[in-house]
Amino acid sequence: MTGRKIFLNTDEMPRKWYNILADIKMNPPLGPDGNPIGPEALAPVFPMNLIEQEVSTERWIDIPEPVLDVYSIWRPSPLVRALALEKALDTPAKIYFKDESVSPPGSHKPNTAVAQVYYNKEFGIERICTETGAGQWGSALSFACSQFGLECKVFMVRISFDQKPYRKSMMAAWGGECVPSPSMATKAGQEALSKDPNTPGSLGIAISEAIEAAVGDETGKTRYSLGSVLNHVMLHQTVIGLEAKKQLEKVGDYPDVVIGCAGGGSNFAGVAFPFVRDKINGKQIDIYPVEPAGCPTLTRGPFVYDHGDTARYTPMLPMHSLGHTFVPPPIHAGGLRYHGMAPTVSQLVAEGIAEPKSVTQVSAYDAGVLFARTEGIIPAPETTHAIAGAIEEAKKAKEEGKEKVILFNYSGHGLLDLAAYDKYFAGEIHNIEMSDEDLQSSEEVFKDFPTPEALKSR
Ligand SMILES: Cc1ncc(COP(=O)(O)O)c(C=O)c1O
Repeated sequence: MTGRKIFLNTDEMPRKWYNILADIKMNPPLGPDGNPIGPEALAPVFPMNLIEQEVSTERWIDIPEPVLDVYSIWRPSPLVRALALEKALDTPAKIYFKDESVSPPGSHKPNTAVAQVYYNKEFGIERICTETGAGQWGSALSFACSQFGLECKVFMVRISFDQKPYRKSMMAAWGGECVPSPSMATKAGQEALSKDPNTPGSLGIAISEAIEAAVGDETGKTRYSLGSVLNHVMLHQTVIGLEAKKQLEKVGDYPDVVIGCAGGGSNFAGVAFPFVRDKINGKQIDIYPVEPAGCPTLTRGPFVYDHGDTARYTPMLPMHSLGHTFVPPPIHAGGLRYHGMAPTVSQLVAEGIAEPKSVTQVSAYDAGVLFARTEGIIPAPETTHAIAGAIEEAKKAKEEGKEKVILFNYSGHGLLDLAAYDKYFAGEIHNIEMSDEDLQSSEEVFKDFPTPEALKSR
């Protein structure tokens, strides 16, 4: 029998994160007046130690010992050779996936949640507010807060709050408080509800609510935390790709193709950035973020300056965006329903280092079910997008007769997403694509903002 899993020992876990800001040039975030903002502008929102990490250009950053200690609950995560999927596809390609579903909340999200809570605690913060789409981030942050003894409040996008009630139970088990967004507790929530009382909500609105709740706490002991998009979140996730690289070395392989699904960009960044560094240094690798056709931020949204949230509380970030007021259609991959994309991932796409792809909702579920019936584990709806991307590459390898090595990130399990699978089996999952008219009208909101191109020539 051929072994499927490649393990590392605890003492082989990476002890430093890789910071891509050492290797690419980025445009700065802009304040309301259109001028670059300094770190101090973010101080009411994040603790200063995380802000320093956000702007650091040091290539390697030490993972603190208490973070490594919590990581060791589930890390190093296994790298798995998808032998049964390869057989079903009759492909000469080798398919490997990095299994991030083995964490207590069931996804990659605690890689940054644990780090962020640790730095907040070090800074003297006692309470953290956040938003969550599918509920994975809210449960990851609740888990991390319970490890370090902080309070956690989560604004959960209404459609997911209704579709995924057990995520709320997980948050409660770890002591987190979860409310549906939009809520009447914040100005941003009230405004969204006054525009549409039946809105499914969006990550953009929930982010506004969580920032407002954090900044509005007069004790000064509350901060906001974001589960994706920002540089420090991408940094913490690189533990995924760094481990995967060591594991592949153990079996003498190196990827020709690296794939991750992309919502705000963090699990994609986690698996891909350590390989992006190799690509910048001359290696030939295809690097694909895969997103839903219903929320095509990278594949159809332009590279612009835009806000990360609907109420425009965040600075303007240089990123691919569908517009901060865009409420994505209620696709089941809740964690991929975000109008923007991490500036670092957007920059790699703008430079042609990463090439985005999109898949339809039905083909993502087709891929997820094939995966469940071959590899045995049931993926999160978000993760099915990466699987669809890997299957496409494996089929291409068969056509070309090439023994390619494909690596993708298995960002989370779908055991709390079974209602969506039921809909798929009942033929009730349909493809939703964004029309050109919708795209054009959603772009109206940033048409007067500076563009990253214009900023370069200032
Ligand atoms: C399982 C899973 N994968 C992927 C994502 C997308 O987020 P990101 O693009 O930041 O990895 C989410 C977000 O909630 C998720 O829960």
